[in-house]
Amino acid sequence: MANASSGLFSPSVPNLRFKVPPFLGIPIPRFDRFSPKVVCFAAPIPHKTPPASASSSPSQPRLVSQGCKLVGCGSAIPSLQISNDDLSKFVDTSDEWISTRTGIRSRRVLSGKDNLSNLAADAARKALEMANVDPDDLDLILMCTSTPDDLFGSGPQIQKELGCKTNPLAYDITAACSGFLLGLISAASHIRGSGFKNVLVIGADAISRYVDWTDRGTCILFGDAAGAVLVQACDSDEDGLFSFDLHSDGSGLRHLNVSIKQNDSNDALDSSNGSVLDFPPRLSSYSCLQMNGKEVFRFAVRCVPQSIECALEKAGLPASSIDWLLLHQANQRIIDAVATRLEVPSERVISNLANYGNTSAASIPLALDEAVRSGKVKAGQTIAAAGFGAGLTWGSAIIRWG
Ligand code: ACO
Repeated sequence: MANASSGLFSPSVPNLRFKVPPFLGIPIPRFDRFSPKVVCFAAPIPHKTPPASASSSPSQPRLVSQGCKLVGCGSAIPSLQISNDDLSKFVDTSDEWISTRTGIRSRRVLSGKDNLSNLAADAARKALEMANVDPDDLDLILMCTSTPDDLFGSGPQIQKELGCKTNPLAYDITAACSGFLLGLISAASHIRGSGFKNVLVIGADAISRYVDWTDRGTCILFGDAAGAVLVQACDSDEDGLFSFDLHSDGSGLRHLNVSIKQNDSNDALDSSNGSVLDFPPRLSSYSCLQMNGKEVFRFAVRCVPQSIECALEKAGLPASSIDWLLLHQANQRIIDAVATRLEVPSERVISNLANYGNTSAASIPLALDEAVRSGKVKAGQTIAAAGFGAGLTWGSAIIRWG
């Protein structure tokens, strides 16, 4: 199992944005050798000091020369709301079964002329507004989605919709329900490694497009939404990303996938027109989402707490010091199991999946945005966030809001 985690950040070269070779923009553990002049120091840990027993091994010093912090958030949801009772008219299910097994009561679904790019741009505008950042001051837009409006990616489309005259770099990250978390770490790496100042991370998905609405085992779980966070460069002593822990395990693909399929009927394969077998290739499309719910459940309750514990250890923080636990919103039973394992009381757990179901890459920024705007999450508070999902991919980050 590959482990691409790191609690150490390489120093950056601020203000050298256009002089740094492009490959330095990704988190290379030994990047420090490219910037010998940068002075590294251990950034202070957040407002709560952990007891000496917080970690089984001494926590690693964090080397941060350029900080980054979360300064704005926003979200957007489609207008069409589908309740559990609505679903029970399509498939053999009930509000009682769905809410007891998952905690979900309702979800939003893209319909009519709605599209994911519009939804993502709406969420992005709100995050920019809260952060008081002009679209022209963006350096990078990361569109985290597995269901883009265009297979080639939606990031540049969002850039256009936001009206950025400066054409900041914009591209997609595909990692299903872990997408936003990976986008967040990528944003921090770009800020720390490439000197970027303002990075917009959007998590947006329309899983409804790939769900078999006759399969009661999957269609009850998902909803569509978008959420966004503005990550901004700051002094190292204000740094708001304390640590992270990321993993992938491709052997788990069989448990959760939306795989490519070749369409059966395709005139191009008609041998009478001179085609050679297997060429030209058949037109492809994607199958409906396939999931082994029990395996995904087991994977989540095993791996997510381990990942959070690992990130906490790297940050030198005990679980008792975090203000909020914010997990990918997949199933309330998964959220409860992880909270129990980490001994985080339910009043410090953020959950909104009752209203939206599993919105994949959107779920963490959507829940964060609601919690911030309702006054629940306050500036300076510490959040343990974790994503998990198809790939399989999972990970966590210990962050400070504001
Ligand atoms: N309504 C009524 N009955 C149902 C439904 C339904 N919607 N779905 C399944 N059932 C029935 C089954 O047929 C089965 O009946 P049986 O005992 O007669 O055979 C019974 O309920 C139990 O089914 P299970 O699949 O065992 O139910 P389980 O308790 O495992 O819950 C669930 C299923 C909710 C899918 C759960 O396994 C789960 O949440 N897993 C995690 C899924 C997840 O998080 N996926 C997203 C990952 S993120 C990403 O990247 C997309």
